[in-house]
Amino acid sequence: MERFFFISVFLLLLPHFFIINITFALPLSTDSRWIVDDGNKGQRVKLACINWPSHLETAVAEGLSKQPLDLIAKKIVSMGFNCVRLTWPLYLATDESFSGVMSVRQSLRKFGLLEAISGFQANNPYFLDLPLIKAFQEVVSCLGKNRVMVILDNHTSQPGWCCNDNDGNGFFGDKNLNPHLWIRGLTKMATIFANSSNVVGMSLRNELRGSKQNINDWYKYMREGAEAVHSVNPNILVIVSGLNYETDLSFLRDKPFEVTFKRKLVFEIHWYGFWSSWEGDNLNKICGRETDNIMKMSGFLIERGIPLFVSEFGIDQRGSNVNDNRFLSCFMALAADLDLDWALWTLAGSYYVRDKIIGYDESYGVLDWSWSSVRNSTIMQMISAIQSPFRGPGLKETNPKKIIFHPASGLCIVRKSLFELKLGSCNRSESFRLSSHQVLSLAEEKIFCIKAYEKGNSVKLRLYFSEYYCSKWKFLSESKMQLSSITKNGESVCLDVDSDTNSIVTKSCKCLKGDASCDPKSQWFKVITSTRSRFRAKPFLRVSPYLKTLVQESLSVS
Ligand SMILES: *[C@@H]1O[C@H](CO)[C@@H](O)[C@H](O)[C@H]1NC(C)=O
Ligand SMILES: *[C@@H]1O[C@H](CO)[C@@H](O)[C@H](O)[C@H]1NC(C)=O
Ligand SMILES: *[C@@H]1O[C@H](CO)[C@@H](O)[C@H](O)[C@H]1NC(C)=O
Repeated sequence: MERFFFISVFLLLLPHFFIINITFALPLSTDSRWIVDDGNKGQRVKLACINWPSHLETAVAEGLSKQPLDLIAKKIVSMGFNCVRLTWPLYLATDESFSGVMSVRQSLRKFGLLEAISGFQANNPYFLDLPLIKAFQEVVSCLGKNRVMVILDNHTSQPGWCCNDNDGNGFFGDKNLNPHLWIRGLTKMATIFANSSNVVGMSLRNELRGSKQNINDWYKYMREGAEAVHSVNPNILVIVSGLNYETDLSFLRDKPFEVTFKRKLVFEIHWYGFWSSWEGDNLNKICGRETDNIMKMSGFLIERGIPLFVSEFGIDQRGSNVNDNRFLSCFMALAADLDLDWALWTLAGSYYVRDKIIGYDESYGVLDWSWSSVRNSTIMQMISAIQSPFRGPGLKETNPKKIIFHPASGLCIVRKSLFELKLGSCNRSESFRLSSHQVLSLAEEKIFCIKAYEKGNSVKLRLYFSEYYCSKWKFLSESKMQLSSITKNGESVCLDVDSDTNSIVTKSCKCLKGDASCDPKSQWFKVITSTRSRFRAKPFLRVSPYLKTLVQESLSVS
């Protein structure tokens, strides 16, 4: 079954937007750690998803009282997402008397949501008399028409906000998580959507947790769930979560998860800033420690060639939550470095009702309360840096190169002029080489190396006649993201960004130790591997053969 799928990727290439159409064939499968398409070459498809909640009390996809469904789907595409993780409550699949009979109108009325009903009347009138399950299918199908892939996530049994340790939804055997009912629900849902080609994956279960958790039951029931889904819908990716609110897959180190099928298994984790304090200690130390912890709990899977999907991460979009902002920059560094597949929490600008509050405003929503515009375009712009892949099977436009990513802005180091550097789109990134002699040079125009001057000044590209002309650079601090050098005057400086011009400058190295209130984010740089071609066809400078020889000769002498 070869089903072609087209998406548009928007690339911000100042001063114009370019639209590139990428074609790939569904269904998806896996190739080592990558998710790939069904074409001959098995080209990488990077999941850049947004979570769209549909599992709260009303069991209706949120936002449909605010904007027409098709418009919401188009907004998702225009924000650069290629996929939606659509959350559903189990009863939608197992309880006919609930989902097959109750209409959207009845469900909204049950919670006294009269204003939402009139919103539906205005924006999506035909929805009101659809049974809940049909309304859910309608959303999936509209996303398909807009070429948006869907991952179905079995979020809770009882509809409602998730999660806590004692809500009876935590682990197999809890009051509301009967394993048999669960398998039945998964099977039903996988069957219903077996013919929806844009449904590319199914998560088995959201955030297992609580006192009943144990590894033996995990292997037993997750395997049963995975096999059940695969047997009725062999096309889709089966997405498996670990323990402790989807943070822990460390037990897979010793005991692999074995299923009868191949190339369809993906693991998932969640990662939120509010799970720990990012403010109580030196931020370099916290970022280093949290990154190590993620690698230990789940990231090691990627190193072993096993796909890992960060199916929830998110931040307060108001931009004023220091803890979340600190988390996000650290997350961006790892997400770019590993070139992760991910799903941002959340699309929803508001909920019909959450925690008994009608019209609850969702500050983690990328859309505003009325679902009409982007809540914070600065944050959206930053996240757009990790929406398209840096590398992966079938995507190689150039040989792998090292680019320097600035996680706090989502930008990369690009050329400002012949001798100067600035931040710009990662699609225009220069490629760099940090030699064993700590010389940082341009990889394509090897005759240029980076030299640091006094604090506050721009760094300059100098002709690399000998190491004497170049600064020596090394990564410092516990985040290993501060690139430092010593100036002629013996001052220790770090790469930084001039906030007015975006030029790459040097400043005193910030927050190497102690000081919890100190913020080093502007000095964070991460070297990542990319095979994206630069949209500038030629190197900045055509080097004359004579100059090249001269440089090479001087190098071999030094
Ligand atoms: C969905 O989640 C509910 C509880 O949260 C669980 O009882 C049910 O088994 C799950 N179903 C599927 C198909 O994952
Ligand atoms: C899916 O399509 C097949 C073949 O066209 C059909 O036999 C099957 O009934 C369909 N399943 C559903 C759930 O619509
Ligand atoms: C967006 O977030 C940034 C910080 O990330 C913040 O400075 C800005 O005020 C926010 N903008 C809006 C409109 O909330």
